[in-house]
Amino acid sequence: MQPGLVDIPLLSDPLGSIGVVEGDDLIPFEVKRFYFIRDVPAGATRGSHAHRNLEQLIVAVSGSVDVELDDGVTAKTYALSGPHLALQVPPGYWRTLRDFTPGSVVAVLASREYDETDYIRDYDEFLSWTRRG
Ligand code: TYD
Repeated sequence: MQPGLVDIPLLSDPLGSIGVVEGDDLIPFEVKRFYFIRDVPAGATRGSHAHRNLEQLIVAVSGSVDVELDDGVTAKTYALSGPHLALQVPPGYWRTLRDFTPGSVVAVLASREYDETDYIRDYDEFLSWTRRG
């Protein structure tokens, strides 16, 4: 899987909207975990780590957030500007989440259960890990 944004169909009517995330194109892994991030204080940055094996799909179901993905050589920022977009994140990317709008809620589908040993939380260690291939 390459990192990138995919479109989420939104079914809207006068009573609200339903966003549907289904199928291998949108979720290219078996979901083992769902979690969400909310109540992030203004100006706060989250993430600042990489995963060795974990695949994720990130959706700003309310509000918006910017997600920077860095493969150790190149960094690219993806604007999750609303619930019509999902960001597919393969393993091996240093991610930084910033510019959460007030009240935003970010949902994450993940391919594995929580495992601290899957994290790389030191950027220099991340660079060494990427260079080892
Ligand atoms: P972390 O993944 O570092 O959050 P973020 O990247 O958004 O800043 O997780 C923060 C804390 O929450 C960390 O102590 C581990 C814990 N945590 C779990 O116990 N289970 C989970 O599924 C997640 C995502 C985090």
